Amino acid sequence: MSKLKGKSLVSITDYSKDDILRILDTAEEFEANQRQNILNGYVIASLFFEPSTRTRLSFESAVQYLGGSIIGFASADTSSVKKGETLKDTILTVSNYSDLIIMRNPMDGSARYASEVSPVPIINAGDGANQHPTQCLLDLYSIRKTQSTLDNIDIAMIGDLKYGRTVHSLVQALSLFGAKFHFVSPDSLKMPSSVKTWVKNAGLEYHQYTELTDVIPIADILYMTRIQGERFPDPLEYEKVKNSYILENAMLENSKDNMKVLHPLPRVNEITEDVDDNPKAYYFQQAKNGVYIRQALIATILGLK
Ligand code: CP
Repeated sequence: MSKLKGKSLVSITDYSKDDILRILDTAEEFEANQRQNILNGYVIASLFFEPSTRTRLSFESAVQYLGGSIIGFASADTSSVKKGETLKDTILTVSNYSDLIIMRNPMDGSARYASEVSPVPIINAGDGANQHPTQCLLDLYSIRKTQSTLDNIDIAMIGDLKYGRTVHSLVQALSLFGAKFHFVSPDSLKMPSSVKTWVKNAGLEYHQYTELTDVIPIADILYMTRIQGERFPDPLEYEKVKNSYILENAMLENSKDNMKVLHPLPRVNEITEDVDDNPKAYYFQQAKNGVYIRQALIATILGLK
């Protein structure tokens, strides 16, 4: 039985390198054999206080492929939060109805708080600009699958490195595998110091750029991100940077043969549609990998794998 049984997943730093590899290996099993009726009789709650397509639906899909039931809401507007109920009361109530709670919330730190008050495990499906650990695991799965290793890759992260929670989690995880980091952003959206300190403390290198074209020839993974308009305190500041980076197919000509373009999605305009047909575009397969990873997480945390 895994030591992850019954444990919440709030930050990717809750997991060791061995824990991460165990989840990736279990996800491979689900990719090979997706329909396994191991969740019969289990109820999973999915509480989304913030919009989502991929994370919410891939979790729901994961539960259904495993034969479990899912309850919850896709918007705070349809729950008693709208009437002023606190997060603590919501979690304590829903924990009476479920074996595991998946939660997305716009407030940084909300998932940690929920895990501290909840009698059932919490999986953080994104808390503000802080962490998105399940996206991180599917990103790692996608990197390992396309590069045949997680070790010593050159990864370029492009766009909103300040508010983009997926890159924060991914840098912390890849620091366990000796990655070389290339951070491309406008000056106002640089990677937070706390994340850069994480890289330094791991004895690794990072380089900062403002031009996307500087990193295309050196990257094994080109990790594009959306500028997160909803997190800007001043909409005028968003207007200044919203079109900073747009990847077009012709720009990939001098990329490495093994290079893949990843994006957590949704995209707005940062990858043009002509990239979609390039074999180096991997973002829709990446989203598909999310189902296997979420099956692995649910099964492991419930002690069924
Ligand atoms: N990648 C991701 O979190 O997408 P959604 O916001 O659609 O869930």
